[in-house]
Amino acid sequence: MRKKVTIVGAGNVGATVAHWIAAKELADIVLIDVIEGVPQGKGLDLLEAMPVEKRDVSIVGTNDYADTAGSDIVVITAGIARKPGMSRDDLLNTNFGIMCEVVGKVTAASPNAILIVVSNPLDAMAQTAFKKSGLPRERVIGMAGVLDSARFRTFIAEELKVSVENVTACVLGGHGDTMVPLSRYSTVAGIPITELIEPARLKALEQRTANGGGEIVKHLKTGSAYYAPSASTVEMVEAILKDKKKILPCAVYLQGEYGIDGLFVGVPCKLGAKGLEQVIEIKLTPEEQAALHKSAAAVKEICSVIGMA
Ligand code: LAC
Repeated sequence: MRKKVTIVGAGNVGATVAHWIAAKELADIVLIDVIEGVPQGKGLDLLEAMPVEKRDVSIVGTNDYADTAGSDIVVITAGIARKPGMSRDDLLNTNFGIMCEVVGKVTAASPNAILIVVSNPLDAMAQTAFKKSGLPRERVIGMAGVLDSARFRTFIAEELKVSVENVTACVLGGHGDTMVPLSRYSTVAGIPITELIEPARLKALEQRTANGGGEIVKHLKTGSAYYAPSASTVEMVEAILKDKKKILPCAVYLQGEYGIDGLFVGVPCKLGAKGLEQVIEIKLTPEEQAALHKSAAAVKEICSVIGMA
């Protein structure tokens, strides 16, 4: 039997997640949204591309959670997106309300599903999904680090004029201005980039990474990024569905790791069939540790506004 993935929210991110899951023939897809007609239209349109793309997947667009029943993974993208001048945190109250409602409905329909949270502000929304669902931490995972490190990898590859395939990067912390791109653990063909790029230039690339989401919002003016966020989400979906045991930076509920307890923060994780299978603890310098804790403090402050700290 094919796997089933529900995507909540048929906006740009949700629809593009569906696109890539279908293109990779990873699972049957249910696209659900509160807006009548949009998930049905986008779902049918994508389904009609399948003969051309030679992919056998079912794609259903719906407004009814009954159609999502029995999903293996639920990707939650629902919520409003940023406009120029807004921070991710400006979305907090609206998206908190949406997240609470969505989590109740998806877990009722798919009690065994793994939730991947994509809505912003990311870490606070993941924390909300975790607390409101009552699921074990293995099954609620936030998508941020894959995106942030993809941006960092892009900038490193451009800087050194090398293949993106050669570049790995590590970004820790919350998905916001305080995120912590870790150059020391980022490599080109196994060579630490600290050996290849001079410190001032590296600082600039790290800074561009931290502002990566805002850079796109500034260009688009009417919304925020969706190609890279959805590609990043689908890498996590694939790691779980194929039980790949892949190490990816994800926002997960820490229970003492890195000296952080009871909070979603981005750290390297092993993803497999059970969802979060291991939190990888890497050695940090005192400066890196301080930056991570500063980022965690920012996440905690946002969570406390919505009573989720
Ligand atoms: C970004 C938004 C989606 O980083 O958080 O582009």
